[in-house]
Amino acid sequence: MPVPLFDLSRFDEGVDAAMQEAALRVLGHRNYILGPEVTAFEQEVEKFLGGGHAIGMSSGTDALLALLIAAGIGPGDAVITTPYTFFATASCIHRVGAEIVFCDIEPSSFLMSPESLREVCSKLTRDVDGGFLTAKGNRLKAIMPIHLFGTCCDMKAINTIAAEYGVPVIEDAAQVLGTDYPGEAGPIKAGLISEMSYFSFYPSKNLGAIGDAGMAVCRDADFAEKVRCVRNHGMEERYFHKVVGGNFRLDGMQAAVLRAKLPFLDGWNATRRANAATYKEAFSKAGLLDQIALPAEPFASSGLRDHHIYHQFVIRVLGEGKRDAVQSSLGEQKIGCAIYYPVPLHLQECFAYLGYKLGDLPESEKAARESLALPIFPGLRTEEIHEVAEGIKKALSS
Ligand SMILES: Cc1ncc(COP(=O)(O)O)c(C=O)c1O
Repeated sequence: MPVPLFDLSRFDEGVDAAMQEAALRVLGHRNYILGPEVTAFEQEVEKFLGGGHAIGMSSGTDALLALLIAAGIGPGDAVITTPYTFFATASCIHRVGAEIVFCDIEPSSFLMSPESLREVCSKLTRDVDGGFLTAKGNRLKAIMPIHLFGTCCDMKAINTIAAEYGVPVIEDAAQVLGTDYPGEAGPIKAGLISEMSYFSFYPSKNLGAIGDAGMAVCRDADFAEKVRCVRNHGMEERYFHKVVGGNFRLDGMQAAVLRAKLPFLDGWNATRRANAATYKEAFSKAGLLDQIALPAEPFASSGLRDHHIYHQFVIRVLGEGKRDAVQSSLGEQKIGCAIYYPVPLHLQECFAYLGYKLGDLPESEKAARESLALPIFPGLRTEEIHEVAEGIKKALSS
């Protein structure tokens, strides 16, 4: 039985109708760029998150770019992030002219390793004014952890390190709208665990638009105004430009569709988690747990329902070359799978100028060789999950 990696047509009943109604509403009122749908969506996201200031953006990438510009990060500055991720995080640091500094990931969770972050920070030198400089002479301005696949980085440790070095944390929350993090004073939604963050509404995200869309989020009202200004070519008053921003505006059609889908998000996230539980049981029954590693749930003991929302279900196929063999066998069996991410960013051609080489960030490199994402989307059927597990068993025994 073929199993798709992702299928946008398998929504719960009522979603299509809600999306169509939203689209017709926009065609009726004709507020195509920003406008009331965007404002309402921003308020609804703020309510969903339980706080913060939400600024609708043309994509997750643009949201990050706008945050970096608004934070004044540019040439002479440096930002620390991890290389096992989607390109956007590092590319935005490069695009504002700052230095990208990489630290490694935790092998079990694929997420930023606080130990590695601390080690990288320990190599910084103190400037006369108390700031911290990289070996290239650039000043540390932010730390950017990436909450991959549906759960959060160890933000307690990362926020502590950032405070010690006097810099803000920018959460890449592209994949975690709805994830709860166990904060000191109770649960906090991902995106609000640090000073600023951003989400992506790329169509395959847990909350997906009908094109590109994103959201910047921050705690500080004045900073939110700066981000709004950057979003619209640095204008507050039309044709008067305070700063050089860009066209990072969210359009009314995307906002209206996202508004229609937002009420379904909690249910979809719960279904993703149920699918993950079915996978775990199926892999255990199939006796595969010595050949594959299941996704870690670092905050399972918190008791929070939404500590993981399984944007992706990413396993490791253990043993040199085994992952690629499993991937091609699944391809032959018409079972969807994907590699997120095949080449860590420090080894990308465009970042060769940074001077990293193979072996510098071993856990990220290993993750790129071993990881395999399996279908997890909400419309996936239980028999399809068992088919995937059987398919992997077949691949590993051939
Ligand atoms: C981890 C991560 N960061 C950043 C992005 C960029 O978001 P967008 O595609 O909306 O620009 C994505 C999504 O594709 C992502 O998964």
